[in-house]
Amino acid sequence: MTVQSTLELPVLSSKTILITGATSGIGLEASVVLARAGARLTMIGRDPARTAAAVAQVKERAGGSSRVDSLLCDFSSQASIRKLAADFSASHQRLDILINNAGAVNVERRLTEDGIESTFAVNHLGYYLLTRLLLNLLVKSAPSRIVNVASQGHYSGTLDFDDLGFQRGYSIMKAYSRSKLGNVLFTRRLARDLKEKSVTVNALHPGGVATNIWSGAPGWAKPLLALAKRFFMLTPAQGAETIVYLATSPAVEKVTGLYFDKNRPKEAAKLGQDDALADRLWAESARLVKLEA
Ligand SMILES: NC(=O)c1ccc[n+]([C@@H]2O[C@H](COP(=O)([O-])OP(=O)(O)OC[C@H]3O[C@@H](n4cnc5c(N)ncnc54)[C@H](OP(=O)(O)O)[C@@H]3O)[C@@H](O)[C@H]2O)c1
Repeated sequence: MTVQSTLELPVLSSKTILITGATSGIGLEASVVLARAGARLTMIGRDPARTAAAVAQVKERAGGSSRVDSLLCDFSSQASIRKLAADFSASHQRLDILINNAGAVNVERRLTEDGIESTFAVNHLGYYLLTRLLLNLLVKSAPSRIVNVASQGHYSGTLDFDDLGFQRGYSIMKAYSRSKLGNVLFTRRLARDLKEKSVTVNALHPGGVATNIWSGAPGWAKPLLALAKRFFMLTPAQGAETIVYLATSPAVEKVTGLYFDKNRPKEAAKLGQDDALADRLWAESARLVKLEA
């Protein structure tokens, strides 16, 4: 897989883009490419120093005329997500492309301040709540796009609405896969809702990418991961390619509701294609973030 060069990108000077998880990994690399192509880019991070450093790095690598700013948000806090949406809406007239990318794995089961299992809260409800709060702006800015960074991990994901937070039998991979199945189902349901509104929404697997996310893996897996990072995994810049493709390519201007891998649509897991399940997850997510379904 080759990294899409800025030369192949459309000029993005008229585009306002918000990207989450922009402080490292594929979010940081996608930010560089998008800023270089002229987008007005808001990078979201949770830690002030790391966020400032990421913005400085993007400005330096993207060149002097880049238009990059940042806002802070901890996606494990619904109050913080609401504040981000309010701050962004107050300072921006439009939003052409929303990239939901912030994600994490957790070796131990943890609850957020809202009482929700942290992997599900950050990786799924974070996308869900931010998108719903920014939806009016996206519709007003149409044609616009939403890009949800999911994972091939969703293929082994399951949903149990009686125990969404794994009170019984937590494991790092079960929790991660569930949250990523959530991304795929959310994408499917939202695409249906937005069909007539010229807002597309697609999900993607970025590849196996050598990023910080693996630092959250259990100790026994670390030697194997170190080998995989060195010999098999994509670089973060390569991992960013499908994000940039879905966010900007004219080829997918009208494509919506799909799951992509290496810039190509791919059949999602059977559960990820289940509309009734997508509707149920939507309703349960709305309840958990205290919005109308
Ligand atoms: N790497 C892979 O092989 C792979 C494969 C499939 C899917 N993905 C997906 O790709 C996305 C990006 O991950 P990555 O691989 O680039 O990992 P990464 O380098 O660890 O980046 C994750 C980003 O999410 C942010 N983040 C994590 N928890 C957050 C929270 N509670 N609030 C706000 N921001 C938070 C991190 O911020 P900090 O810098 O503050 O930690 C960082 O900016 C994730 O959705 C992941 O599930 C990755």
